[in-house]
This record gives sequence, C-alpha cells and structure tokens, in this order.
Amino acid sequence: MIDQEPTRNLALELARVTEAAALAAGRYMGRGAKELADKAAVDAMRLVLNTIDMNAVVVIGEGEKDQAPMLYNGERLGANKAGPELDIAVDPIDGTSPLAFGRSNSIATVAIAPRGTMYDPGPFVYMNKIAVGPEAKGKINIEKPIADNLKAIAKAKEKSIEDLTCIILDRPRHDQMVAEIRRLGARIRLIPDGDVAAALMTSWGDSGVDVLLGIGGTPEGVLVACALRAMGGEIQGKLYARNDDELNRGREMGYDFEKILTMDDMVSSEDVFFAATGITNGEFLRGVRYFGDGAETDSLVVRGLTGTVRQIRATHRWDKLKRLSAIDY
Ligand code: FBP
Repeated sequence: MIDQEPTRNLALELARVTEAAALAAGRYMGRGAKELADKAAVDAMRLVLNTIDMNAVVVIGEGEKDQAPMLYNGERLGANKAGPELDIAVDPIDGTSPLAFGRSNSIATVAIAPRGTMYDPGPFVYMNKIAVGPEAKGKINIEKPIADNLKAIAKAKEKSIEDLTCIILDRPRHDQMVAEIRRLGARIRLIPDGDVAAALMTSWGDSGVDVLLGIGGTPEGVLVACALRAMGGEIQGKLYARNDDELNRGREMGYDFEKILTMDDMVSSEDVFFAATGITNGEFLRGVRYFGDGAETDSLVVRGLTGTVRQIRATHRWDKLKRLSAIDY
C-alpha cells in the first residue's frame, strides 16, 4: 500500500500568479502599449510569486528578443529561503502583440519544477518545435521529414493526412514547410502569434488541432514541455540559430544546435507545475471579463505528478482585492 501523503499542489498557487498577471495586463487590451502591458504583467507576477512558500530561481525569463521589462534569468523569487528549491519559467504575456492590438489568444503563463531540472537555453531565443497530443506521443521525430511525421500522427489518430490540422506561426521562415504541407494535403491554421496556446491545443479537448510545427520562442518551448508532461502530449525541439554569428556563439558556449531536445531534456522532472490564464479571448482560454466592481478569469492549472488538469473560473472583487494588494488592477 502506498502511504505517502499527497504533496502540496503548487499549481493552485501558480493560478494566482497568472490570474494577477492577466488581470493587470488585460487593462491594456487594444491600447497599443506593449511595454506597459508587459510591465503590468511582470510586476503582478513578481509580487504574487514572492508570496509563495518556495526558494525559486528564474531559469526561463523574458528573452532578450523583446528587450522587455524582465523577470530576468537568475532572479530569486519566493517567500522562504528554506522552502523547496525550484526552477521557474515565465512568460507573463504570450501574445504581447495580440493583446496590444486587441486580438485573440493572449495568455499569461508560468511553470515550476525542482531546482536544476529545467533546460537553460542561454541567450538563444528560437527553437524549432513539433508538439502533439497524447495519441501521437512517441510517434514523432523532429529530424524526420514533415511527410513522415504527418503520416505517423494520422496513423496514431486513425485518420488520414487530409483530416489533420497543423497549427503554424505565420512567418516567412515557414513558407517552405507550409508549401510542403499543402502538397501533402493536410489542413493548416496559420496563427499570428502565441505558440504556447497553440501547442497546448494539441492536447486539449476538441480543439481540432493535431500538431504544432515550426520555429517559435525557446522559453515558450520549455513552458509547453512543462505543461505537456502533465497533459500527456509530447514536444520535441531543436535550438535554431538565426545566423552564423549566433551559431558560432552557441557552439563556443557548448550548445549543440543539432541535438534533439526531448520533453525530458526540456524538463527532466515529472514533479512539474504549470498554469495559464487567458488575457484576451481565445479558443484555449477565455480572456479577462471586467465588470464594474471586479472581473472574471479563466485559468488552466496542471500538475505533472498526478496528471490532473484543472480549469478554474475565478471571480475577483476589487473592493476586497484593492485593500490587500499592491497590484494596480
Ligand atoms: P511574445 O508575446 O512573448 O512576444 O511572444 C509571442 C510569440 O508569438 C510566441 O508565442 C512565439 O513563440 C514567438 O512570439 C515567435 O517569435 P517571432 O514573433 O519573433 O516569430
């Protein structure tokens, strides 16, 4: 008989973190102010992370790509130096542009795992990725041609290639891959931004998305690995260098751009927690709804050890919150 007590579910605490970020950043929807939105999300996240009983270090902070007000790599977070030692990955807003211009699918995300278990991509901001849901787990290989992967996914899901939907960031760097997928006959959803939500859709109810393909942010890849470990899907990645300088710099630092990064490479522990809250409306999560005296949020929290996936709808009351919290909601 297993007599272990259930351990603490930090995912529930993480929901408070992403809720705070979404509530603060959601005020900037459509206001064209990316940096202010990012700052609001970062400040709110930092404040709540610092109330959690943990001793954590940011391994995946905001990339140098954005030159945003950062939760920076190496930053220490948590309320208890003697608490559990953890790694943290944050993306206070995945989809800063959609938020700034009032478009869909912008979310706040965070993940934690035991100290030393998260992949540190250094300064390399892009990763080539393939992500699938539970049925196709173990059937993909990022090194194989697209046709082989689509065949394998279709077979695993007992459908034809024509029935598959691939989700891909709409970027010129993907033109060739898109042309190849069109030739193969699969369906494609080109999205302007937000490949965390896109990757999670492969493992989420009846989203209709079968596979995420293409090059996106490295932090987003690690966050997705944390979530998919719990949700039963799979992501593989490979660091992507934008030019020879980056490639050479990476090699000097000991990074191997040819290495397949498995989910286990990206987060080597099963004891992982992930949370996301919708900022603007998306198929994945609804965005923040503000009313006179409060707001409502929708979040997803997952825990790797148990594989429990929770959806949390929360009602927030300004009269109470504003008395307690330094966050400007
Ligand atoms: P941010 O909102 O954090 O800038 O990320 C948005 C995003 O679309 C990610 O989801 C994706 O991984 C990355 O940007 C792609 O980068 P780029 O826009 O440079 O192609």
